[in-house]
Amino acid sequence: MNRISRTLAAIYESVVFGPVYGTLQYLIRSPEPLDPDATWTLLTRELHPVADWARWNWPPTFMRSFLVAAKTRQDHLIGISHHYDISNEFWELWLDRKYMLYSSADFPDSSESLEQAQTIKVHALLALIQPKAGERILDLGSGWNGMLRPIYEETGDKKNLSGYTLSQYQLDYNRAHEGFNVELRNFITTEYPEESFDKILATGTMEHVRPNELYPLAVKLFRALKPGGSLTLQTNIRLATPLPATVIAAQIFFPGSMATPLIRFVRHFERAGFRIVHRSFGDYRLTLRHWFMRLGANRDRAVALVGVRAYNRFLVYLCSAWRWHHDGVGTVLRLSMIKPDLYKCQQNGLCGRTDSITARFDRSPARQDQATASPRPAQGQSTPASGW
Ligand SMILES: C[S@@+](CC[C@H](N)C(=O)[O-])C[C@H]1O[C@@H](n2cnc3c(N)ncnc32)[C@H](O)[C@@H]1O
Repeated sequence: MNRISRTLAAIYESVVFGPVYGTLQYLIRSPEPLDPDATWTLLTRELHPVADWARWNWPPTFMRSFLVAAKTRQDHLIGISHHYDISNEFWELWLDRKYMLYSSADFPDSSESLEQAQTIKVHALLALIQPKAGERILDLGSGWNGMLRPIYEETGDKKNLSGYTLSQYQLDYNRAHEGFNVELRNFITTEYPEESFDKILATGTMEHVRPNELYPLAVKLFRALKPGGSLTLQTNIRLATPLPATVIAAQIFFPGSMATPLIRFVRHFERAGFRIVHRSFGDYRLTLRHWFMRLGANRDRAVALVGVRAYNRFLVYLCSAWRWHHDGVGTVLRLSMIKPDLYKCQQNGLCGRTDSITARFDRSPARQDQATASPRPAQGQSTPASGW
């Protein structure tokens, strides 16, 4: 694409899909690999008020859902394949070397290395999951085995550990490495046998689930767990409602995916029957910045592996995701929930207790405003029970 057609395409796309979409596509279509520093500065700087207004307000609200509708009707496999199935070595260039995790890490002091921060995150998740030998444990969206590996190290039980992914490349990676029991399976549409798992986890995965798919999925997962079983999630959550204009640009990177707003997300799991035993928020920005720096430092190798267009797309994606979190459009939510064991709760007399977090939230409109307006508790900070 020459410079004139690239510019004309960007103008057209800015008018139809919004200036963020047009600008990002213009950069991605650059025939040269983008310079990391210049791209970061361009995409994360403060904008002129007029440009900022356009960024938030165009296209208008009524057009937004219409514009993403086609993408959110397509099979999830298409979007996942577009994002992940390019080259496993490419991902090895910039994810952490210890686990290859593609989900937000914990940086309690901000000064940790990416490897240290992912290790802290893994330990925090293991403390919530408490995996034990003999338990049937399922990882939804198991990526490059980043959570399966430490769970296996903890339990020594490979037979009862399994994962689902929709990426053929990740499946190949698993076959070439640990050979865990990983299947190419859509965890949203699959039918789970009743009461077949002790523990289910999903890190960096629920943001691929569309808002209308979340409640039926929550019900399925509830049924799939044994009484007393647990579901542990870490996910990007949307704070901005209604649908922000920038959501259309997100379709460039994750076509067909759409994060659910915080309150609706929590309510779906509570309505399905789960009792929330842990919730905390994280800050994705440092993880994104680390990945960005590593990708930029490996530019030549990355281009050799996936080509200029894909390298540019990921470089631009990491800046845009940073901006998404910086602007408070979304944040990282960690939740641990249990399926109450009715037999046990009858015995201890706690069955009728209603301590629904969202019900409490609903009774307090002031808190709702507060939570929506100030989305960023400190890194890893757990909200007090009354803080929703
Ligand atoms: C951001 S990666 C996270 C990988 C891993 N959990 C981690 O923390 O590093 C998202 C993962 O979810 C998987 N995934 C997304 N939607 C899926 C679906 N509907 N069914 C199965 N896997 C899915 C992708 O294939 C990928 O493995």
